[in-house]
Amino acid sequence: MANKAEGTEDLYGARMRAWERMQAVARETFAPYGFDAIETPAMEQVSTFVHGIGESTDVVRKEMFRVFSGALLERIFEAGGEQGLKPKQRLAMRPEGTAGVVRAAVENNFVPQGGAPVKLWYAEPMFRGERPQKGRLRQFHQVGIEWLGAPDPAADAECIIILMDFYKRLGLAPEHLHLAINSMGDAACRPAYREKVRQFILDHADEMCDECRERAEINPLRAFDCKNDHCREVMKAAPLAHDNLCEACAEHYAQVKRYLDEAGVTYEEDPTLVRGLDYYTRTVFEVEYAADPAIGAIGGGGRYDGLVELEGGKPTPGIGFAVGFERIMLALEAEGVDLAGEEPGCVYVAGTEADLRPNVFSTTLALRRAGIRTEADYQGRSLKAQFKQADKHRASLCVVIGPDEVAAGTATIRDMRTHEQTSVAASGLAARVQELLA
Ligand code: HAM
Repeated sequence: MANKAEGTEDLYGARMRAWERMQAVARETFAPYGFDAIETPAMEQVSTFVHGIGESTDVVRKEMFRVFSGALLERIFEAGGEQGLKPKQRLAMRPEGTAGVVRAAVENNFVPQGGAPVKLWYAEPMFRGERPQKGRLRQFHQVGIEWLGAPDPAADAECIIILMDFYKRLGLAPEHLHLAINSMGDAACRPAYREKVRQFILDHADEMCDECRERAEINPLRAFDCKNDHCREVMKAAPLAHDNLCEACAEHYAQVKRYLDEAGVTYEEDPTLVRGLDYYTRTVFEVEYAADPAIGAIGGGGRYDGLVELEGGKPTPGIGFAVGFERIMLALEAEGVDLAGEEPGCVYVAGTEADLRPNVFSTTLALRRAGIRTEADYQGRSLKAQFKQADKHRASLCVVIGPDEVAAGTATIRDMRTHEQTSVAASGLAARVQELLA
């Protein structure tokens, strides 16, 4: 028997309904803010992620699933490596959505040049070669927004407000969420800060793990995220981002906080929050389900004022976030919230005799065309068996067609709970059924 790929999941039944519901809530939440949907390809050229996410990030170095056709793989084996491949032959499954959306905006020329900002949202599977565990998959689903062309700190605050609103609408109690924010500085102040952290790690190299020593050279800020207890202890004394911001970044950060305060959003400043993707500038944020932080972050994002340029566009600010469907589901389960809701019921059309099958066919068709979820028998069952079948389909109403009904141009509607039966004219059936269902 074939098995699914490790760290992936089949979505069907209640789980699929929950994913659909999350997308519907996303649409409702983001629409008032003017976001339109976008879908970008599940695979992109590797360079899109290298430029955007950063060559030294774990996501790009270790977790990206590379894609080669069989023929190309043979060539790579023969040549003993990937040298000689054209950029368009080096593909990867997207590990996140931001880089691809920005690439699409640049390539399709919808990056705002002094015009109205572009606001896009997506709900898509993402792929990361991580060790699968609870809340950590290799194919997982993100809902995210990207907002290009808005440098104002109000946009940072609004982005966070949209995110917190989204969780609330999904059924997560705001008081059970922990929102952490930080500012990472920008091209003016981050290099000097990065150098300070690098020097700090080198000064404490003998107290830190091999990986952190390596990080000092390639991505020193990631040492704040090291899981090693020793490293965490050492990094408590490391220089902090918010003490090293230039004046413009400090002012931007102060305004973001002012707007959040004004909107009544509860947050905690976490000067060690650095995020795992290199494109961030200034504001970054992450949300945990406070009642069970072991689930991991249920969402995160931030500003990326340099990313459009990195993807080949004109300098354009950007900001956004993404949340993880699977992790939010764990949090919702812990909250006792059933996002999937009840399996939808239906109306069942039963024929009292086999030769009335064409009448059942046309009645079923008419109800379906009126938008009513309708089922019927496709196995030549007896009337009693059809009623049983109607219960299995969770039908609240059964429309019964017999010779008398056909002769009189009517149909009998049977309430499946009370077994009460009423007769209606066939021409008014759909309208009556709709009334009863409402
Ligand atoms: P991220 O923090 O890497 O950010 O991912 C966002 C969310 O995706 C996480 O908070 C988590 O809920 C979920 N997630 C990440 N990896 C996994 C996994 N292996 N299994 C299950 N869930 C996972 C981004 O991806 C950025 N693109 C967000 C962003 C948008 N920043 C600006 N715009």
